[in-house]
Amino acid sequence: MAQSKVRRIGILTGGGDCPGLNAVIRGVTKPAQDYGMSVLGILDGFEGLVEGRAKELTNEDVSGILARGGTILGSSNKGDPFHWPVNKDGVIEILNKSAAALKNYQAWNLDALIAIGGDGTMHICQKLGEMGMNMVGVPKTIDNDLEATDQTFGHDSAVWVVSEALDRLHTTASSHHRVIVVEVMGRYAGWIALNGGIAGGADIILIPEIPFSWDKVYEKILMRELMGKKFSLVCVAEGAKPIDGLMVTKGLDIKRHDPVQLGGIGEVVCKKIEDNTGRESRVTVLGHVQRGGSPTPYDRILSTKFGAFAIELAAQRKYGRMVALKGSEIKNVRIEDAIARQKLVRLDTQAVIVAKKVGISFAEG
Ligand code: F6P
Repeated sequence: MAQSKVRRIGILTGGGDCPGLNAVIRGVTKPAQDYGMSVLGILDGFEGLVEGRAKELTNEDVSGILARGGTILGSSNKGDPFHWPVNKDGVIEILNKSAAALKNYQAWNLDALIAIGGDGTMHICQKLGEMGMNMVGVPKTIDNDLEATDQTFGHDSAVWVVSEALDRLHTTASSHHRVIVVEVMGRYAGWIALNGGIAGGADIILIPEIPFSWDKVYEKILMRELMGKKFSLVCVAEGAKPIDGLMVTKGLDIKRHDPVQLGGIGEVVCKKIEDNTGRESRVTVLGHVQRGGSPTPYDRILSTKFGAFAIELAAQRKYGRMVALKGSEIKNVRIEDAIARQKLVRLDTQAVIVAKKVGISFAEG
């Protein structure tokens, strides 16, 4: 018996926002008419799916949003239906709200749901798929730590911000003969620090995957001075840690998929450098600047392709799959495979090898 046509799809943006989300929403919604589909935009990620908050999306809604940062649908990294915190008399209790999510999916008559997000979102997609929802994933995150896609959208825009910041800090560091430490995001992966650091000409890059030696950091700064360079730029990932120490954290937020809030290593590195080399040092924490604003042309193109391929997957009823960049082509992979492990920087990653060749130190312990 022929399968009935896919007539109605939902779309949501989950987890932390990043540049390119709107370009994906547009890439899904614009072709929908040609497929004879209507698109329902679910508000604030999985929170809206559980709470039944959504709005119809038409061509008019997505017109002019290609270059706009953030997400017109809203997002949340606290709305996991399987890990739903409620405050009961001051005590946080974790509930499973997946039945409410399924009920809304059915009540809205959705044939499929396109979820745009990172690692946490894809884990939720996998579980909702096992409950019977027809899921299609689109890989997003500035961190670029999703396996099974060569790149996530948002990463290039974050790298651009880091590169631009390093360019600006270069001139002030060199004028004042200072060491400037730039702390960037990325969680447990060093892709933003690695790619941003290379693009912005950092002298030292510190990443979670390569625990660093304090002595090697000081040595590099002093060696540069001997060569006549009286300033240094250090690009440190928020998850970087010394060989004999731990990651620096700001706290725990149990409402999130991953409760650990990273941040603060930049300040620690800056102080240690000043105390141990006697060289004047400053720190700049780029924070959410890396997630805001307009996507780069590369991210606009990648997001548009991801969106257009995601709706095609839905039309072909290829569920439980995530669109993925493989080389220069958009393919699709099983969501299950995409979340099997995190994509981390390795010592034999080409960018690491090249960075070392041009004199960048990872202060390897
Ligand atoms: O995963 C994206 C990311 O920006 C990480 O690089 C960072 O650690 C985290 O999100 C910050 O989350 P929040 O916006 O909740 O502070």
